[in-house]
Amino acid sequence: MPVDVALLELAEQAGQNAYAPYSRLQVGAAVLTEAGGRYSGCNVENAAYPSGGCAEQHAIAAAVRAEGPGMRLAAVAISARDGRGESIAIPPCGACRQRIAEFGEVVEIAFAGGDGDVVRSSLAVLLPQGFRLQAG
Ligand code: THU
Repeated sequence: MPVDVALLELAEQAGQNAYAPYSRLQVGAAVLTEAGGRYSGCNVENAAYPSGGCAEQHAIAAAVRAEGPGMRLAAVAISARDGRGESIAIPPCGACRQRIAEFGEVVEIAFAGGDGDVVRSSLAVLLPQGFRLQAG
């Protein structure tokens, strides 16, 4: 399912509430579920750096909270602003690619660029041969 303008705007709004005093990178993420739900998250940093969390991670957690363990992802939008407030295009970090893979196989991932351009990619492109635990 394609990322639409509303999902990108939801990500942008979420990023405005980011807690990022250390990196100054304010990230917002919005997910669209297969059920049609839309949920967002922002990065929340911590003085003990590894204890901070990514925007995508928190958006996914909100989706699971709302729809339960059967939640499946259809699309993810990411928005980011640097310390000067400039919009920059960032793809999801490696750990967040793995987090997205846990909840979907065909997932469009879009990130908004500084000049208003939107980079459209997918989980298959960003995480080829990703790890999956074989049930059994
Ligand atoms: N960050 C995200 O929220 N998502 C990503 O995919 C990449 C990085 C956050 C984590 C940290 O708060 C800041 O950006 C700088 O790494």
